[in-house]
Amino acid sequence: MCGIVGYIGDGIANNVLLEGLKKLEYRGYDSCGIATIVGGTFDVFKTTKRIDGLVQYAKKAPESHIGLGHTRWATHGGVNEKNAHPHISNSKKIAVVHNGIIENYITLREMLKSKGFTFMSDTDTEVISNLIEYYYKGNLLEATKKAVDMVEGSYALGIMCIDEPNEIVVTKRNSPLIVGLGDGENFIASDFSAILKYTNRISVLENDEFAVIEKNGMAFFDKNAEPRGNEIKIIGAKENDVEKNGYDHFMLKEINESTITIKNTLSEYLKDDKIKFDLKLTNEELKNINQIHIVACGTAMHAGLNGKNIIEKLTRIPVNVEVASEFRYKNPILKENDLVIFISQSGETADTIASIELVKEKNIKFISIVNVKESTIDRMSENILYTRAGAEIAVASTKAYVAQVCVIDLFAIYLAQILKTVSDKVLKSLILELKNIHEKVQAALEDDKKYIEYAKKIKDDKSVFFLGRGIDYYIALEASLKLKEISYIHSEATQFGELKHGPIALIEEGTNSIVVSTDKRLRSKVYSNIKEIKARGANVLLITNEKSPQPEFYDDIIELPEVNELFSPIVAIVPLQLVAYHVTILKGLDVDKPRNLAKSVTVE
Ligand code: F6R
Repeated sequence: MCGIVGYIGDGIANNVLLEGLKKLEYRGYDSCGIATIVGGTFDVFKTTKRIDGLVQYAKKAPESHIGLGHTRWATHGGVNEKNAHPHISNSKKIAVVHNGIIENYITLREMLKSKGFTFMSDTDTEVISNLIEYYYKGNLLEATKKAVDMVEGSYALGIMCIDEPNEIVVTKRNSPLIVGLGDGENFIASDFSAILKYTNRISVLENDEFAVIEKNGMAFFDKNAEPRGNEIKIIGAKENDVEKNGYDHFMLKEINESTITIKNTLSEYLKDDKIKFDLKLTNEELKNINQIHIVACGTAMHAGLNGKNIIEKLTRIPVNVEVASEFRYKNPILKENDLVIFISQSGETADTIASIELVKEKNIKFISIVNVKESTIDRMSENILYTRAGAEIAVASTKAYVAQVCVIDLFAIYLAQILKTVSDKVLKSLILELKNIHEKVQAALEDDKKYIEYAKKIKDDKSVFFLGRGIDYYIALEASLKLKEISYIHSEATQFGELKHGPIALIEEGTNSIVVSTDKRLRSKVYSNIKEIKARGANVLLITNEKSPQPEFYDDIIELPEVNELFSPIVAIVPLQLVAYHVTILKGLDVDKPRNLAKSVTVE
């Protein structure tokens, strides 16, 4: 979604802003802009073209050493230059970039209009620049505090003032913002990838805190604008993590990083073949779990469905999987001995964060599975299990899903160990299989030519079916999401047994149907279902770990290495991610930045 970058220092502000904005492109945006201070006025340029439009302008722009940049993902108001950020106040004294949504902007706009302010854009953000101007009496921090005290909603704000040209003020509520410490220069950003080239020394702002950033220093203030200590952390990430490293696209690179992701994630928690989690939950508490709820969005929710399968099978504890945007508003039934597991790659998803707040309020035990360290969810959770996927830049989540599944699988085995619901011998063999699963993923990656051939077959389709039973249905759901979100081909995942209760009406001559079959117990049922759709003209791609199935059950086949069905999502998803990738490339679409989508969904 929207991205913020800001700079103050000896360097050329525009160069830093543009490099930062380029790094934020992956989050998704539809317009962008920069503002610098030059000779006592703002030099502002906005465009609805890509960042390259700004680059052309910046080449001719006057030099400045302070500035703010923004990528906008439209919420209030259409995609045009007047709605792009930065927004400048009426007297052209204050410039603001904003991520989030100001919920009471209409009331604030009317109040400001009654004081004589006029508005140029349709955005909620423009009220902030004018509100700060309204309160400005020579101290930008003070005016910002007064303005945000009036605001309802979520925001990360970067603010400059013509009368105080040597500082940037920042503040945030429910939208991420970090500041980066350099030598003779300092930075602000909504995402550390934007400034990683310059510094890995960062401080993460908490809700309602403020910071004043100058060239040679920064000061932090609590919610009352009283000074608080400076805490700077070193972020372990390297700039390489946010580069394509020879691959044509981030998505392809990230799918190919699945093997290393699995190894890194498992080695974080598997020591001498024993699972070690650093959780503040006693074995007694874990033994007494009544029900588990897994709450997440999108792909992370699909990883949660895999969690339901394995936890229920190994522990017999009932697991309820909920989409976070539903969970937060449904007054969920949570009991004292319940455990909630949240899953999020970014750690910044607004609905997941709101669900955590709700669970915290009710004092229910919870664990968060997160990829991005120092993200909001990481910082608000006492019990954290990290996925070690590294930076995931492509909008479509691939390696992070694989890592989420690995962590949940480990957790299920760990719980079964404590509950003694499965023999030690079986648990040992499961751990061993998981430890070596990266080899099977590597084997699946190597069949890429086959995936390209199949992609050619479906690239012009209007709609594709994904079918499966049990765990294979959960894999189908994730595969279907991957295909539709990047290739814009409508696709639908259906439980195979449900097909004849309605959706089979859509199967006709030539309907491409992708059938996932990794659960041996259900295979004969799946084959009967395949016969039913083939009788109605469907073309079947069968993804299976059965050795040489009868040719009557498929038109095309992807043979997977032998894998325990408890772990099959880790292996079976990889070919389907690659099929989605190749379809998208064949259609000439922007695979890393699909339309309308953002990498982290920081507004609800
Ligand atoms: C799809 C995708 C999304 C995310 C969802 C949750 O490829 O990436 O469905 O999985 O927006 O995001 P996180 O995991 O960051 O909470």
